[in-house]
Amino acid sequence: MAKLAKVLASALALAGSSAATWPPNSKDCTTTASAADGFPTPNAEQLRAISERADGSLSNAPPPATLADSTLQSLQVIAFNEEFETAYFQSLLANVTLGVPGYESWKGYGKAELEKILKVIIAQEELHALNALNALNKFKKLAPLPCKYRFPVTNIHDAIAVAEAFTAVVMGTLQDVSQAAAAAGDAGIVRGVASVIGQEGEQNGFYRTLLGAVPSEKPFLTTNVGPFAFSFLNNNFIVPGSCPFDVNALGVPIFTQLSVEGGSAALNIRPEDQWLNYSADLSSVKNAAKFSNGNGEGLFITYFSGQLVPFSVPVKDFKWNGGKVTFKAFFPFDDNIMFGLSIASLTDGGNFTNPDAVPAATLAAPAIINVNDEF
Ligand SMILES: *[C@@H]1O[C@H](CO)[C@@H](O)[C@H](O)[C@H]1NC(C)=O
Ligand SMILES: *[C@@H]1O[C@H](CO)[C@@H](O)[C@H](O)[C@H]1NC(C)=O
Ligand SMILES: *[C@@H]1O[C@H](CO)[C@@H](O)[C@H](O)[C@H]1NC(C)=O
Repeated sequence: MAKLAKVLASALALAGSSAATWPPNSKDCTTTASAADGFPTPNAEQLRAISERADGSLSNAPPPATLADSTLQSLQVIAFNEEFETAYFQSLLANVTLGVPGYESWKGYGKAELEKILKVIIAQEELHALNALNALNKFKKLAPLPCKYRFPVTNIHDAIAVAEAFTAVVMGTLQDVSQAAAAAGDAGIVRGVASVIGQEGEQNGFYRTLLGAVPSEKPFLTTNVGPFAFSFLNNNFIVPGSCPFDVNALGVPIFTQLSVEGGSAALNIRPEDQWLNYSADLSSVKNAAKFSNGNGEGLFITYFSGQLVPFSVPVKDFKWNGGKVTFKAFFPFDDNIMFGLSIASLTDGGNFTNPDAVPAATLAAPAIINVNDEF
């Protein structure tokens, strides 16, 4: 999948209350390689223990006899993402267990309940990662091992808001994975990927409930593309250079970050039409130089929302500033009923017929925008 990208850049914006600065400084950097349970290379006994904690096991069906390179690339991004998720929830669990200020309890859930829920989720995410790693190892492809991570949160509210955001991004990305696998003739992985989409949806219903939003965000969840998810992870959560492999070796583009301003507001904006302020550093983006003397004509913010065909709005008040661009763009909430996740990209075209056409026209992406239907 040339398609997972930048979910997290924007997740930051989603985190509500204590506007954490981004990127976090080095003291926020955390490494996740907790070898206590053997992950990511458990022996048989350790795998059994992970499965018991996860309330279920890996599939015992034989793996497909062949997989297209594009599908194996998707599995690399899935492994990369699930290892990040495992690390994130381990960090959250540690904060809850240690009673770090800001992590004492949440909406009537005390320490014991949160610990129980997080332990199950961690083991489940480990099995999601192992499922992808096992296939990659079988086909002798680069099987990404965990990196060091940084998390843009210091309290449980923001931690849950960011988890909600990246989980929604992942569910959009897994749509892309299954679509691409089906198109490549790899129907054999689609059932398992679909089961993970539902599983992540169960998690997100809980996170959304904790945030005071209705558990189910939209009738049809927002889609995403692989390069945006991969960019999101790399630009927001991975300590640069910390991966035990070359992140560029996966062959998935890493776009420069598109940021949406407003701190907490951007993470969780009001359900109404509004203008949003965006910024990006285009100084080293190849197709961007031609916009250096202009007013942004020919540039658009393109949104993914639900299963709508991607739609684009022109950028306004465009300023180049040596490639560090700022501009505003309309967020057309009313016409498009944009509850839940929206994924924005800066593109040099509009009129896309499907999400897969967007990365080729993208200069910066993604920005993650969330609108909660609150109760
Ligand atoms: C756990 O707490 C540390 C210290 O406050 C913080 O840097 C980190 O982001 C927290 N992790 C999560 C997932 O909330
Ligand atoms: C966007 O920027 C303008 C000009 O700085 C400011 O007045 C406005 O409040 C900003 N809007 C948001 C949503 O941050
Ligand atoms: C999209 O297509 C319509 C109809 O052909 C055209 O008027 C419009 O300018 C196009 N928009 C973009 C962004 O290319």
